Amino acid sequence: MDLDLLRSAVAWRDGRLEIVDQTLLPERLAVVGLTSVAEVVEALGRLAVRGAPAIGVAGAFGVVLGLAEAGPPRPGPEGLAAARADLERAAATLEVARPTAVNLRWAVRRVAAAAAGATDAAELRRLALAEALAILEEDRAACARMAEAGRAELATRQRLLTHCNTGRLATAGLGTALGVVYAKAAAGEPVQVLASETRPLLQGARLTAWELVNAGIPVTVVADTAAGAAMAGGLVDAVLVGCDRVAANGDTANKIGTYSLAVLARANRIPFYVVGPLSTFDPEAAGGAAIEIEQRPAAEVATLAGRTLAPEAAAVWNPAFDVTPATLITAFITDAGVLRPPFERSIAAALAGG
Ligand code: MRU
Repeated sequence: MDLDLLRSAVAWRDGRLEIVDQTLLPERLAVVGLTSVAEVVEALGRLAVRGAPAIGVAGAFGVVLGLAEAGPPRPGPEGLAAARADLERAAATLEVARPTAVNLRWAVRRVAAAAAGATDAAELRRLALAEALAILEEDRAACARMAEAGRAELATRQRLLTHCNTGRLATAGLGTALGVVYAKAAAGEPVQVLASETRPLLQGARLTAWELVNAGIPVTVVADTAAGAAMAGGLVDAVLVGCDRVAANGDTANKIGTYSLAVLARANRIPFYVVGPLSTFDPEAAGGAAIEIEQRPAAEVATLAGRTLAPEAAAVWNPAFDVTPATLITAFITDAGVLRPPFERSIAAALAGG
């Protein structure tokens, strides 16, 4: 089975949240059904479901599962009060499951707000489910718009370096940065991808390479440490990455290693694009310093496939993300079009719908 046989890497089917367990790829493509808040939180925590938009979709359905877990909806004001309490509990638990990807908080709060006007418990559940389904469909549509905007922007760029995984596994649709690659390929334009392996959890080597090989798009995996040599050697026409949270001034949190790539791109005069939907933009964060960076377990760095790499006594620092200053970013490719500097203004206008 390849991913084409699935409608989406995150899907709602028969009252369950179905996800591709990304920890098993590329060896095995397995779909797991989640039925409780605890299972969603666990899947988010171990990166079975990952990538900012997919995290948001999972969080939205997590709220729906939190309501279902309480049993059939009870009638009357007491039933409504109980459902509201269930919703708040689920939302509070889910919202913090991964702290950097703002799509999670955004999606969970959207579902909660949509259900707020319910007049009984059954309606509250219907509204929550309808909103979660809307979030999933909107993400799919946002991916298509980003892919087309990116294709037009990068029409003359063929050799693209990307980081982490930003494709069909990371969203409900085609992806963000990788969606642009898919759009170029679908339009018959030549495109080749250099995928940085993305230590420590190897989303580039495991997931991006798997997606592109399945799609028949040329992909070359490089160690993260080879990116500079590739750029200096003239092998890269543009760098294209996703994002987990973009501050109001354009500072961008993304997978650890993104900042290094941005510095290298600037030093080599290579354009550096960030691709992401407006749901990943956080106007509440004025700049990068306001973005909470998720810290991950030491074992992700100190071990590899069960083998010890570093002495147990060694300390480990394992931030999941870093912040790229807006000054290193050429443009944002979003579902509202391409945003160019000055970003404070273009981001505010896009978020205001202008
Ligand atoms: O820790 P992960 O694998 O969830 O990190 C994912 C990334 O950093 C992606 O680049 C980002 O979420 C954008 S995915 C479309």
